[in-house]
Amino acid sequence: MTANRIAIVRRAGGPERVEVIDAATPVPRAGDVLIAVEATGVAFADVVMRKGVYPGVGFPFTPGYEVVGRVVSGDGIAPGTRVAALTVTGGAARLAVVPAADCVAVPDAVPSVQAAALVLNGLTAWQMLTRCVAQPSVETMLVWGAAGGVGSVLLALGRHFGIRTFGVASGSRQDFVRQRGATPIDRAGDVAAQVRAASDGGVDAAFDGVGGPNVRISEAALRPGGCLVMFGFQGALGGERLNPLKAAAAVLRSPRRSAQAQFLAGTGRRGYLIGQWKDAHPAFYRDDLAAILALAAEGRLVADIAAELPLDRIADAHRMMAAGTQPGKIVIRP
Ligand SMILES: NC(=O)c1ccc[n+]([C@@H]2O[C@H](COP(=O)([O-])OP(=O)(O)OC[C@H]3O[C@@H](n4cnc5c(N)ncnc54)[C@H](OP(=O)(O)O)[C@@H]3O)[C@@H](O)[C@H]2O)c1
Repeated sequence: MTANRIAIVRRAGGPERVEVIDAATPVPRAGDVLIAVEATGVAFADVVMRKGVYPGVGFPFTPGYEVVGRVVSGDGIAPGTRVAALTVTGGAARLAVVPAADCVAVPDAVPSVQAAALVLNGLTAWQMLTRCVAQPSVETMLVWGAAGGVGSVLLALGRHFGIRTFGVASGSRQDFVRQRGATPIDRAGDVAAQVRAASDGGVDAAFDGVGGPNVRISEAALRPGGCLVMFGFQGALGGERLNPLKAAAAVLRSPRRSAQAQFLAGTGRRGYLIGQWKDAHPAFYRDDLAAILALAAEGRLVADIAAELPLDRIADAHRMMAAGTQPGKIVIRP
């Protein structure tokens, strides 16, 4: 039976490796639900998987780090219920099987495209801000990749919590940062100096998904007592130019710092990985995703959508991701 249609990547390479094929209808096992997918996202993580260097994901795989859709059948959730879930892989399909325990109900007021843009990026931004750093104590923050998927949600949450936000972006994407109520910081300039000058000596929190040597710049932008949250290696990995051996070497060259130096500087470093947090604190995952979707339902959190494309154009979505011209999240509508 070939009622399903899925994206598949069989070998490492560029966007042309992302194919869309007919497939059998997946069968949910005990504890799973079958979902008719209405939306899934494209993320930098998909590029890393497609290049064959994402830990734990081998070939062939179906991309799609999240799903939003209606339950068709399975355990514990009524058919027809619209749910969102973090999947890591498998979301780019008309039909997907997901553990029922990972599904969170999507309020009627939230369109599926919005919900999909808020699963991976929303959870990442929310948990970094509310669980890695004590959000009520953050008056100022620095966001790298502010016009990107995670960064644009951090800008929105900054507005929601009343945090003065400095957003790093390149070229004309700085206009986007300004329009979202944050202070644009030119990626081509001396970021730490610009932030210190504009923030009276540094920020309370810096969110750095660029990684590698960039963390030094982030730390130089902190005020005493501030905290750096490291959540990616986008700069070291080099996007579409990613070469696995060079990437591994670049990641290993991340600056080291002694506990003593950290104590004397009074600043902290945290790492954030969404999968680790989900496994360690499944209740946080569910509560936080529900909280984000509730904010969206109230109209207090609106994700920026870079583009909406049908499943058959997912390779184009990967090309757009590489070009990185449109701010916000690229969403696929299977
Ligand atoms: N740890 C986790 O659990 C987790 C979860 C989600 C995402 N991530 C990570 O978060 C990062 C961002 O992901 P995303 O999906 O939001 O990506 P994205 O949509 O591509 O946005 C990231 C933005 O960062 C900027 N950028 C790229 N390379 C840069 C560099 N070398 N130096 C400075 N800025 C650079 C680019 O914007 P400009 O051109 O405007 O500068 C880019 O649009 C990635 O590292 C990803 O792996 C981690």
